[in-house]
Amino acid sequence: MNDDRGTLSVIACDSGKAFAERIMINLIKLAKDDEHDITSHPKSTTEVKFPDGEIKVVVEENVRGDDIYVVQCILDPLSNRTVNDNLIALLTAIHACYQSDADHITAVIPQFPYSRQERRKGREAISAKLVAGMLELAGVQRVITLDIHSEAIQGFFNNAKLEDLHASSVIIDFLQTILRIDPTRLVVTGPDVGSAEKARHYSKRLGAELAIVDKARDYSKVSKVESMRLVGDVKGKDVLVVDDMISTGGTLINASKLLKEKGAEKIMVAVSLAFFTGNCIERINRAYEDGILDVVIGTDAVFHGKEFVDQTPWYREISLAPLFANVIYNINKKFSVSELLR
Ligand code: R5P
Repeated sequence: MNDDRGTLSVIACDSGKAFAERIMINLIKLAKDDEHDITSHPKSTTEVKFPDGEIKVVVEENVRGDDIYVVQCILDPLSNRTVNDNLIALLTAIHACYQSDADHITAVIPQFPYSRQERRKGREAISAKLVAGMLELAGVQRVITLDIHSEAIQGFFNNAKLEDLHASSVIIDFLQTILRIDPTRLVVTGPDVGSAEKARHYSKRLGAELAIVDKARDYSKVSKVESMRLVGDVKGKDVLVVDDMISTGGTLINASKLLKEKGAEKIMVAVSLAFFTGNCIERINRAYEDGILDVVIGTDAVFHGKEFVDQTPWYREISLAPLFANVIYNINKKFSVSELLR
C-alpha cells in the first residue's frame, strides 16, 4: 500500500523562487529527520516573456507521477513583473504540470490574487471567483494560501481544496520571545471591523485587552478611507494592530493616528502580507519618524529581500517557510495538517 502521495517535488515561477528555496531548506530538514530523500532545490523551470507581453512557464525536468507543489508570490516587490504577469505565469506552470502528467498538483500561493474582490458592489466582477475558476481550469487540485482576505473564497472552488494557513502562531511566538511584550499593558486591535475576529484571536492568545477600530470606506474611490472611530480604551497602553495585509498603508496609518490621539503609547503592527504598494514605504517612514508607529512585523510571504529588512528600522520580518514546508510535508505523507492550520 502506498503510504504517501508519491515523489514530493517543488517548482517555482520566477517570483516564487526565493520563497520556494526557503521552503525547500525546511523540507530537507523534515525529510532528514524521517530519513527520506528530497531533492535539494526546486525542479528547474524557465519563465519566458514574449515581446508582446505574453508569458509561459516551461518545466525542464520530468514530473510524471509527482506530488508537485507550484510556488508563486503574486506580488513581488523585487521585480517589475505585475500581479497579472505572475498570475498568468502561475496558471501556465500549473497547466504545464498537468500536461506533463503530475499526479497531484498543489498551488502554493501565500498571496491569493484578487482576494479583495470577493463580492459584488455594483456592476462589477467577482474576480476572486474568476481566479478560483482559472486555477481549477489549469489543473490545480489543491491551493495552499495564507490568511485569505475572505473565507468565503473557499466556496469558489468546485473541486480543488483550499488550505488557509495562519501567520498568527509564528507572529505570537515572535512577540512573546523576541519583543517580550507585556500582555498586562497591551491592547490588541484591528484597523477595521473586518479584522476584529483576528484581533480577538490575538488578544485571547496573548492574554491582552481588545479594542475595535471602526473604519468606513468610500467604495467609489480606490483605497479611500472615509472615517474611523475607536471602541475601547487604549490610554497609556501599548497597542498591537493586526490585519491580513498592508497595501498602500492608508488604513494602518489612519488607525495608528487615531490610536495615538486616544492616548496609546507604543504602536506595533503585525500583518501576514506586507505588500507596501505605491508610496507606502515613504508614508510609513514618515509615520515612524513622527512617532506614530514603532514597529511593523511582516512575513517573507511578500519577499522584500535582505537589504530592505536590514536597512528599515521599523520593519521586522519573520519567516513562514517552516510552516509552509510542514504543511506540504504532511500533505505528501498523508499526515494531519489541522494542528498546523490553527
Ligand atoms: C481591508 O479590508 C484589508 O484588511 C486591509 O485593511 C486593507 O486592504 C489595507 O489596505 P491599505 O493599506 O491600502 O489601506
